[in-house]
Amino acid sequence: MSDKSVAIVTGANRGLGLETSRQLAKLGYHVLLTSRNEESGQAVRQTLHNEGLDVSHCQLDVRSDASIEALVNHFRQHHQRLHILVNNAGIFPDPSPQSEESSIFHANIETILEGFDTNTLGPFRVSRALIPFMDGRGCVVNVSSGMGQLSEMNGCCPAYRLSKTALNALTRIFSDELKQTGIKINSICPGWVRTDMGGEEATLSIPDGVKGIIWAATLQEDGPSGGFFRFGEPIAW
Ligand SMILES: NC(=O)c1ccc[n+]([C@@H]2O[C@H](COP(=O)([O-])OP(=O)(O)OC[C@H]3O[C@@H](n4cnc5c(N)ncnc54)[C@H](OP(=O)(O)O)[C@@H]3O)[C@@H](O)[C@H]2O)c1
Repeated sequence: MSDKSVAIVTGANRGLGLETSRQLAKLGYHVLLTSRNEESGQAVRQTLHNEGLDVSHCQLDVRSDASIEALVNHFRQHHQRLHILVNNAGIFPDPSPQSEESSIFHANIETILEGFDTNTLGPFRVSRALIPFMDGRGCVVNVSSGMGQLSEMNGCCPAYRLSKTALNALTRIFSDELKQTGIKINSICPGWVRTDMGGEEATLSIPDGVKGIIWAATLQEDGPSGGFFRFGEPIAW
């Protein structure tokens, strides 16, 4: 067992999760990369290892209780305390926002439930299983979205929007129940980032998109908890 501080990142095989893992490892954390796809996760582990970074991998599908249990067992075997958890894994289950099909009048319940299962219940399951390993200190980052802001709520894409608004509520529930501890849990919006999900038109590069995630993952003891931030600045719910 290494005595390095440990970070777990979900959905670490591409996009914001991969770069968050790289940046945290560069800051000196041991990063336990998780991905639902074993092969692509192992490939990323090898890439980051070749960059001289201290990373390991464990398969994790955030929709599966059995998968989370296997991660907990892996963690117990290899590590003692968890310092950072980044709930990054997410899906955009609605049809393209440009298409008429993304209207709430076309949305089907299965799509809404799919978004909720991954984007809201995923962080719920993972946080509930892993926060006990923080021993009362650490940072949890829920990667949310401006599309979940009630103050900015517009039409289209109800599955994604509802799942991220609910994720923000989850942040508040956990933060209140953890207020007597040193554990900080915040929602962040990374901005509009050029990943598979964000698309080529997005305004931010992936390294710029992860800046706010890294900020929230590495808060000092007097840092905020129970907030919603973009680029390290508070934003309205
Ligand atoms: N890009 C943006 O502009 C933007 C803006 C606001 C918020 N966000 C949020 O940022 C986070 C990362 O998004 P991204 O842009 O990096 O998207 P991405 O490139 O599409 O990556 C999504 C990641 O989530 C993983 N994932 C999906 N379902 C999973 C599951 N059930 N279990 C484990 N992993 C799962 C994917 O794994 P697979 O490879 O197996 O599919 C992939 O690693 C998401 O929560 C997203 O909502 C992104």
